[in-house]
Amino acid sequence: MKENIWRKDFPILDQEIYGKPLVYLDNAATSQMPVQVMERLAEHYKTEHANIHRGIHYLSEKSTEAVEQARKTIKGFVKASEAEEIIFTQGTTDSIHLVAAGIAEELLREAAGAMEDNAGLAGAVSRAGIVTTQMEHHSNYVPWQQVCRQTGAQFFVCPAPDGELDLDALEEILKNNRIRLVACAHVSNLTGTVNPLDQIIPLAHRYGAEVLVDGAQGILHQPVNVQELDCEYYCFSGHKMTGPTGIGVLYGKRACLEKLPPVRFGGGMVDIVTEQKTTWGPVPHRFEAGTPNIAGIIGLGAAVEYLLEHDIEAMHAWEDDLMAYALEKIGALPYVRILGHPKKRAGAIAFAVDGAHPYDIASMIDKAGVAVRSGNHCAQPMLQALGESAAVRVSPAFYNTKEEVDTLCEVLEKVITMLRRFQS
Ligand code: ALA
Repeated sequence: MKENIWRKDFPILDQEIYGKPLVYLDNAATSQMPVQVMERLAEHYKTEHANIHRGIHYLSEKSTEAVEQARKTIKGFVKASEAEEIIFTQGTTDSIHLVAAGIAEELLREAAGAMEDNAGLAGAVSRAGIVTTQMEHHSNYVPWQQVCRQTGAQFFVCPAPDGELDLDALEEILKNNRIRLVACAHVSNLTGTVNPLDQIIPLAHRYGAEVLVDGAQGILHQPVNVQELDCEYYCFSGHKMTGPTGIGVLYGKRACLEKLPPVRFGGGMVDIVTEQKTTWGPVPHRFEAGTPNIAGIIGLGAAVEYLLEHDIEAMHAWEDDLMAYALEKIGALPYVRILGHPKKRAGAIAFAVDGAHPYDIASMIDKAGVAVRSGNHCAQPMLQALGESAAVRVSPAFYNTKEEVDTLCEVLEKVITMLRRFQS
């Protein structure tokens, strides 16, 4: 088999756990970090650590430059039209919250305006709706449910039978309601379904709705070009793309960011503050109140540089090959049922096993050195749609190998046999 040329950059993978070589297949939860990113973080703390945009001194300027350079690198990576469209957040959940809370504020203002005009709150807000999908991680589902609860807007969920979105159902929702926004995953964190954003986004636009894409699981597994996608917002996390935890990005079209009300207030996001009134600073700073995760931003910038310097197309091709291999091998194991049959899949394969609980499977294979995730995967609506309450999920990345998939399958087969014997 071909040698994996990136693996040597990930020292964590080169260790034994419980006396067995580690096989790390839980990358959808968190990817691992290359040594180049660790070294950049160490350099930052050793030579340039200071607060940004505030002090006129050498270290502060160096840190500020590093943060703004990271913004430019990330802008280039997702092909945004300007660096100001890149907002740093704590992660995908936080990015979605910034937009959700801003839209809630906007809908409430709209309702208040309607009340002044005597149109009445119910009249104004009941016409607005938000659509999410059955396929979402809870972080792109619950915030929108809450927005609807807070504002009286209607909450719609596009069905995803067998792990594929029903676009006819989506069109019906869009056609029959005034939809403010469609919130949709790029890639499902459970089934790995790659959604046809090239159809979903124009469809939403045809009916006047904006689109927010949860790219947490999408960003590492395929090229992302936000201008070509034409989505209004694209959200992702550093730790799912070889960067640090606690840092994420909200990409937004400038025109959308200019009209989205900021909901987090404090230092760094204002223009003029008086007793009567405060005015906001420019985009993106108006959405970045307080001291940001400076090291996290620089680490994320370094992770993106790592991906750009190492032929990301070759990484994607390696991963596609590995996914096809894993799907076939896992699917051929006795009593295993692969969940969802999407046309296109990336990054994750979920399955259930007749006669064995996902939690028992994951705990037992862990003792053989293999790390996977089990449980509801923060995707209860999707699991319910698939008729399950829990699943095992295998999520490879570009530094994994077919040998590791072989180890996984050998261990899985033994564990399944053992667990079924206990059950019978
Ligand atoms: N969102 C992460 C996952 O799906 C934690 O595992």
